[in-house]
Amino acid sequence: MKIINIAIDGPAGAGKSTIAKLTAAKLGFIYVDTGAMYRAMALSCIRNHVSSENEEKVIEICEEADVTIEYKDHEQCVLLDGENVDSYIRTEEVSRMTSSISAYPKVREKLLFLQRGIAKNHNVIMDGRDIGSNVLPNADIKIYLTASVETRARRRYLEQKEKGFDVNLEDIAKDIEERDYRDMHRDCAPLVIAEGAIVIDSSNMTIEEVVDEIIRLKVKAEEG
Ligand code: DC
Repeated sequence: MKIINIAIDGPAGAGKSTIAKLTAAKLGFIYVDTGAMYRAMALSCIRNHVSSENEEKVIEICEEADVTIEYKDHEQCVLLDGENVDSYIRTEEVSRMTSSISAYPKVREKLLFLQRGIAKNHNVIMDGRDIGSNVLPNADIKIYLTASVETRARRRYLEQKEKGFDVNLEDIAKDIEERDYRDMHRDCAPLVIAEGAIVIDSSNMTIEEVVDEIIRLKVKAEEG
């Protein structure tokens, strides 16, 4: 049977992970959250008290870090040196560190290999920033999922509030804009609309509408 790869890229907070996870569950595919892999490496840098500007040291830590993924009840868990670090990688501190260290080519190289290996043998929905453009340029379907900064900031604010974090909407919007800028302007594998990607703006769409649209595109791709 032919392996199917679906790539979803887009800026922070566009809803990629929620949508990719739900779509994967509906299709019986594996969901691969590549951001979580970068986050695990960033956590390792924070734990080792390394500044994001110290490229040499960041590379050293990332090369030593053993990042793997596992699936429990179809949910992805990220392991850092064997420890499940899912509950430590979603803080704003880790987000900032991740955005900085993911600009280093050596850091990306390590994860590229791991990501391609998973997609080669499984039907996957993989989300990130460079999946359609760089990791899986031959993916069967490429989606670029976006939404306005205001929408994304509001979503992240509600998400963080719900988790009990003390957050400020304006700070989050500023953070999102800075991350967008860094992700889109780095030299190595920046966030771009990949060739052949279909752009979906989720600002005025429900999660279900986006999931249905991706499933429709998958059916269409299989038909023809
Ligand atoms: O998707 P996310 O917010 O968890 O990603 C965290 C950071 O990791 C983001 O700032 C960009 C980076 N990233 C990347 O450079 N390439 C990917 N494939 C996934 C994430």
